[in-house]
Amino acid sequence: METLIKLVNQKLDEYIEIKYPKTIFEAMKYTLSLKGKRLRPVMCLETAKILGGNIESALPAACAIEMLHVQSLIHDDLPCMDNDDFRRGKPSNHKVFGEAAAVLAGDALITYAIQTIIEQSKNLSDSQILNMVLEYSKAAGVYGIIGGQIVDIESEKKHFEDGKEKTLYYIHLKKTASLFRLAVKLGCIAANASADTTIELDEFALGFGLAFQIYDDIMDEISSFEEMGKTIGKDKSAQKLTYTTLYGLDNAKNKCFELIKKCHDIIDKYESNVFEEILGMVEHRLEARTN
Ligand code: IPE
Ligand code: IPE
Ligand code: MG
Ligand code: MG
Ligand code: MG
Repeated sequence: METLIKLVNQKLDEYIEIKYPKTIFEAMKYTLSLKGKRLRPVMCLETAKILGGNIESALPAACAIEMLHVQSLIHDDLPCMDNDDFRRGKPSNHKVFGEAAAVLAGDALITYAIQTIIEQSKNLSDSQILNMVLEYSKAAGVYGIIGGQIVDIESEKKHFEDGKEKTLYYIHLKKTASLFRLAVKLGCIAANASADTTIELDEFALGFGLAFQIYDDIMDEISSFEEMGKTIGKDKSAQKLTYTTLYGLDNAKNKCFELIKKCHDIIDKYESNVFEEILGMVEHRLEARTN
């Protein structure tokens, strides 16, 4: 996993050079360069790898996904959204650059990611690139992250007559699973995977995405700033609709483990150390905090 992370970091640095107007490039690079887990780009590269594809040809797509992820974090932290002052262990983007630059840096990352896929992808056909951009647009937009984020915000402090469970599922599916599914999908496209394989790995990415947001909801309640790099306890104080507030900590933990087990059932036959490491990380962190 370390090797893939290094590769992603090196390329991200190379793709975004600081030019005029400096502020925007600096704001884009700031959150991007902080220490994140790089789960999504690594999953994209590893998908291409286990399917016999070339890592090199998936690298621009992998970096584009991290850019999109970082955009979602920058905007998620804004005062009009979750109002979080810390991200990745450091002050949030808007705390350093101000709100206007943080909004623009996020916007710039969304579009720069598409530009990167188109300009930097090597050894991919035009139809592969077109397909990547289509999948990217769906995951980034109203059918993906944005759809999830608006329902997340609208569900704060809300009194539900019914439909709470469905709404929570929609939020997790869209705001979080969309990006993991995109990561695996772009890896599949880079490796020219068959339709069956793509569907199978999408099932894996969906399960992991749902598990990951449940894990994040749990950690918001019981973890620490040191471990998560962000303020803890914010979901409760903002009266967010989360897995833990709806089902309780124990049920959340059980559901997370159940989903991770399903991920193992799909991925284990590929004998990927990297995927094993990622699933293990969630399992171990959860185990360590809840036992
Ligand atoms: C944070 O994602 C946003 C969620 C989907 C919960 P990560 O926990 O992967 O954040 P980084 O990239 O490591 O900072
Ligand atoms: C995660 O939502 C999804 C996005 C950032 C788009 P959260 O609001 O739970 O993420 P954190 O906890 O701030 O990382
Ligand atoms: Mg949020
Ligand atoms: Mg948040
Ligand atoms: Mg959270």
